[in-house]
Amino acid sequence: MANASAIGIHDLSFATTEFVLPHTALAEYNGTDIGKYHKGIGQLSMSVPAADEDIVTLGAAAAAPIIARHGSDGIRTVVFATESSIDQAKAAGVYVHSLLGLPSATRVVELKQACYGATAALQFAIGLVHRDPAQRVLVIASDVSKYELDSPGEATQGAAAVAMLVSADPALVRIEEPSGVFTADVMDFWRPNYRDAALVDGQESITAYLQAVEGSWKDYTEQGGRPLDDFAAFCYHQPFTKMAYKAHRHLLNVTGHDTDDDRVTRDLGLTTAYNTVIGNSYTASVYLGLAALLDQADDLTGKAVAFLSYGSGSVAEFFAGTVVPGYREHLRTEAHREAIDRRKAVDYARYRELHERSFPADGGDHPTPAETTGAFRLAALRGHKRIYETR
Ligand code: CAA
Repeated sequence: MANASAIGIHDLSFATTEFVLPHTALAEYNGTDIGKYHKGIGQLSMSVPAADEDIVTLGAAAAAPIIARHGSDGIRTVVFATESSIDQAKAAGVYVHSLLGLPSATRVVELKQACYGATAALQFAIGLVHRDPAQRVLVIASDVSKYELDSPGEATQGAAAVAMLVSADPALVRIEEPSGVFTADVMDFWRPNYRDAALVDGQESITAYLQAVEGSWKDYTEQGGRPLDDFAAFCYHQPFTKMAYKAHRHLLNVTGHDTDDDRVTRDLGLTTAYNTVIGNSYTASVYLGLAALLDQADDLTGKAVAFLSYGSGSVAEFFAGTVVPGYREHLRTEAHREAIDRRKAVDYARYRELHERSFPADGGDHPTPAETTGAFRLAALRGHKRIYETR
């Protein structure tokens, strides 16, 4: 019988896009000093989806290796978290369920609360496994982060998907009780249904994030959480990697700790490696931080890792995980490097053309150019229906 008290992340895999735009190209185009991007916001490049990629193809690409390794036995639920939803009614996870050939005896649902959605998905998954430890839940966090061209947010775009298999007796990270939670009604970042690109008040969003760090930490301690010094590392939501540093300094400050650079770098330095070259991936971002940490750290066996998940609007959660003995045998470090290294660099003009693309809303037959070399592609929009293909 699986152990219902030890539930968490059994496997984790991510996928990102066909293309990448180096920030040097953006800086050259808009005349920004590259230091602002490389040091000021901590970004080197951002993933750019091909015309035939979207949250479904990315989500399927992230989840396929998990199904290949573990099969689909016991997976009775797929939870798909996204900010960049493609349909107001149908869950994107239903397309992924089909692309992966999962059994019909599955419930599939989509969750939304900006970048926080994947953490809600993880917690719901843990609840389901707690009720029946024989079940496993596939959580997919997939997003294309899109701001207006020529806006300050443009430098903080990106795209990626993380898939996690949540189970009893997990091989990677046990997720602990309690969680610290926080909600505040703020308009820092939002996207009305009629818009492709998010609206954002940049400075307000940073302030709201820091307030949420403080609020969720306060609740975490009131719920009997671990002391701060217990944690070997901190995985923050990373809209841009410098934000993790701002957030951690703030947390150290409000808890009366020194904020010296060595301490901050030791606490989160390893978590930013993927986000710095992928950019913002909204729901996936905090779990890309975890992937980078697990893939690079010498040995985290038995160590406690903190997570701070933030979704504008805003909802945040502070929680902890313990790294499981033997976890390194289950990592996908090489595949993750490959997902990043295989991207082809595009110039600014090409990126802009891809950014400006949208499907006509006339219900006609609109095939997409075959650009991605990934396993799944969005082949067309036909009669208002998205048509996907598997290679
Ligand atoms: N060399 C080094 N550093 C430089 C520099 C240079 N030449 N020029 C500027 N900088 C520094 C600035 O000093 C600043 O650093 P600090 O924040 O430490 O002071 C940093 O670069 C950014 O400069 P600005 O604040 O002037 O940049 P901006 O006005 O262009 O806006 C931004 C930056 C607010 C992040 C903007 O890109 C944006 O709106 N992004 C989208 C919103 C976002 O990501 N918000 C984060 C919190 S919300 C969230 O987390 C949810 C989510 O995913 C969206």
